[in-house]
Amino acid sequence: MAALSPDAILLTGRVAVVTGAARGIGLAIAETFAAFGAHVAVCDRDKPDAELAMTLDVRDPVAVEVFAEAVRERWGRVDVLVNNAGGTFHAAFADTSPRGEQTLVAENFTQVTGMIRRVLPMMPPGSSIINVTSSEAHQAAPGFAVYAAMKAALESLTKSLALELAPMGIRVNAIAPDAIPTEGEAGVRERMLARPLPYEPVRVPPLGHLGAPEDAAAAAVFLASDLAAFVTGTTVHVDGGINAAGGWRRT
Ligand SMILES: NC(=O)c1ccc[n+]([C@@H]2O[C@H](COP(=O)([O-])OP(=O)(O)OC[C@H]3O[C@@H](n4cnc5c(N)ncnc54)[C@H](O)[C@@H]3O)[C@@H](O)[C@H]2O)c1
Repeated sequence: MAALSPDAILLTGRVAVVTGAARGIGLAIAETFAAFGAHVAVCDRDKPDAELAMTLDVRDPVAVEVFAEAVRERWGRVDVLVNNAGGTFHAAFADTSPRGEQTLVAENFTQVTGMIRRVLPMMPPGSSIINVTSSEAHQAAPGFAVYAAMKAALESLTKSLALELAPMGIRVNAIAPDAIPTEGEAGVRERMLARPLPYEPVRVPPLGHLGAPEDAAAAAVFLASDLAAFVTGTTVHVDGGINAAGGWRRT
């Protein structure tokens, strides 16, 4: 490999698709990608804003088809796909109905496989997929059992697709965030504290402070850039050390 250029972090002219980009981590990723030179297409069920933006539910295959077609018409390809949309509610497994479970499966897993299936034919060699998972994928998550299982499924998918797509020159990685205050995270936390199971999550990450959506965006820029040209099938934990800490708390 030739000596690294500082420009290797730039995404100049790349076409990036970011799902769930109206707020929170997705918004930070979309804005940071644009600041690093990418053309950014976003979708969200709330009204998003970007070079190409569409209001849709990623679980709706017809709407996803329209979105993907708009991206194809505008740029003809996708260099980076960030599957960021996702979410959960807090409930004990015994209180989660089959319908609630189906919602979590669709919200956190099948919409991702659907999006990848639709976008993959537009991805040239050198492109990459980034799946936003969670530190919950790597540990027990009382009150979030199905969500955590689906995020763990995404981690598994990330590794399998990394191997299947490597011959096509497409990299597949994950970002596992935690302790990043966002509207979604605040809503879930509020309901969790209002209806507690006899467990509580780590509040202070080993680094001693909470993160910001931009911390996740920084990892996404790295994974999307040429600096990560030899990185595939792995997860970047953006959690202030929570995953490394296991059950340990900073006192
Ligand atoms: N914030 C954290 O600490 C944290 C921790 C673990 C995992 N995550 C993951 O990071 C991702 C982003 O989370 P966030 O904290 O920014 O949440 P958020 O709720 O603030 O933002 C999520 C965005 O995705 C959109 N979205 C969700 N489901 C959608 C759907 N079906 N169709 C279209 N748009 C949809 C929402 O409208 C929202 O704009 C999620 O996948 C979440 O599971 C975040």
